[in-house]
Amino acid sequence: MKKKAFLFDLDGVIVDTAKFHYLAWRNLAKEMNFDFTEEQNELFKGVSRVQSLEILLDLASYEATQEQKERWLIQKNEEYLKYIEAMDDSEILPDVVRVLNFLHEKNQGVALGSASKNARPILTKLNLIQKFEAIVDGNDVTAAKPDPEVFLKGGEALKIERTDCIVFEDSIAGVQAANAAGMVSIGIGEKDVLHEADYVFADFKEMSEAFLASLIEA
Ligand code: BG6
Ligand code: MG
Repeated sequence: MKKKAFLFDLDGVIVDTAKFHYLAWRNLAKEMNFDFTEEQNELFKGVSRVQSLEILLDLASYEATQEQKERWLIQKNEEYLKYIEAMDDSEILPDVVRVLNFLHEKNQGVALGSASKNARPILTKLNLIQKFEAIVDGNDVTAAKPDPEVFLKGGEALKIERTDCIVFEDSIAGVQAANAAGMVSIGIGEKDVLHEADYVFADFKEMSEAFLASLIEA
């Protein structure tokens, strides 16, 4: 059996934290007198915290000083962490654990490739940290998705060639990052949104073991 590397995004792929990011940004937007919609939130998926604030300021046409930006970044993260503290493993998305276990049974490489700086505490809280051979997160990269850095580092950490890496992503920026890395991209979400991905599944429930085996054998 071949060894491939399966690189998982975190937010929106492993766990349903996208809603917590949205709530925290929406509350911050209120301070800018701006009504931040779920549709606009699509633009924030996969994007770093600092860049997300810049997008929000742009959408709200709000000019903030550097000092205010720094305060807001702290405020947003503190609110987000409150939601995370209250979270438990029921927030793990359907069939994520089944897929992780299948990949381990088949001795495949499994790593995390996330923009989040909160990835390790979240995986620990969900009791999933031991399922990842390597973790590359927002603390380890200088260039954000759609730059391929996070996934290239994930592949390197597992010592697997980029063409033998498969990425699971729920964001447009993340799919673009996987494609830019020359890896197989698998979108988790809506086909219309993630049409640049090589394959798209609504969720892991839709993903058969035969499909996973075909990726390993390819
Ligand atoms: C990504 C999320 O995974 O991480 C983004 O999709 C988020 O919404 C980014 O902004 C950074 O996360 P954090 O936890 O470092 O603020
Ligand atoms: Mg994501």
